[in-house]
Amino acid sequence: MSYSLLLILHLFAALIFIGTVFFEVLILTDIRRHLPREVMREVERAIGNRARKLMPWVLLALYGSGIGMAWHYRAALAQPFENSLGLLLSLKILLALSVFGHFVTAMIWHRQGLLRSRRSHLLHLSVFCHMVAIVLLAKIMLRFSW
Ligand code: HEM
Repeated sequence: MSYSLLLILHLFAALIFIGTVFFEVLILTDIRRHLPREVMREVERAIGNRARKLMPWVLLALYGSGIGMAWHYRAALAQPFENSLGLLLSLKILLALSVFGHFVTAMIWHRQGLLRSRRSHLLHLSVFCHMVAIVLLAKIMLRFSW
């Protein structure tokens, strides 16, 4: 697949993933205050079920295309401390791996019945902060160099 197609796939997958996380943190958290606890639980259950069906495919597209693009920068990645692109891209990949770790943890906690409201909120908040850093790194790594 060409680099341009990988980039478009990566961008759309990132839009869906980042959009979902931002929606959960910036909108759903506030809605919680205005709805009865039972109703909110149902809403969260329905959103969770949908996300668990959709997200594995979104993540496959996001990470698959990311790895495909990173292959083009393998020389820079081989010596991350020698060039700014290698360093910033390595940092972005590390953060993306950490996000994946959050996702796997959420799946495990859900299976074990441990994914309660507070844990779920903290996980989302952590992924939200990762997202902000990943997007900043993605936008500066090819534009600035030192
Ligand atoms: C949570 C996971 C990830 C998110 C949210 C994410 C998000 C983004 C975003 C928003 C861009 C900018 C795209 C654009 O401006 O058109 C980007 C670019 C890029 N990402 Fe990711 N990414 C993730 C994971 C990865 C991974 C795992 C890799 C590599 C192994 C990767 C490699 C790249 C590369 C090489 C670019 C530069 C593309 C370019 O502008 O030419 N990404 N990413």
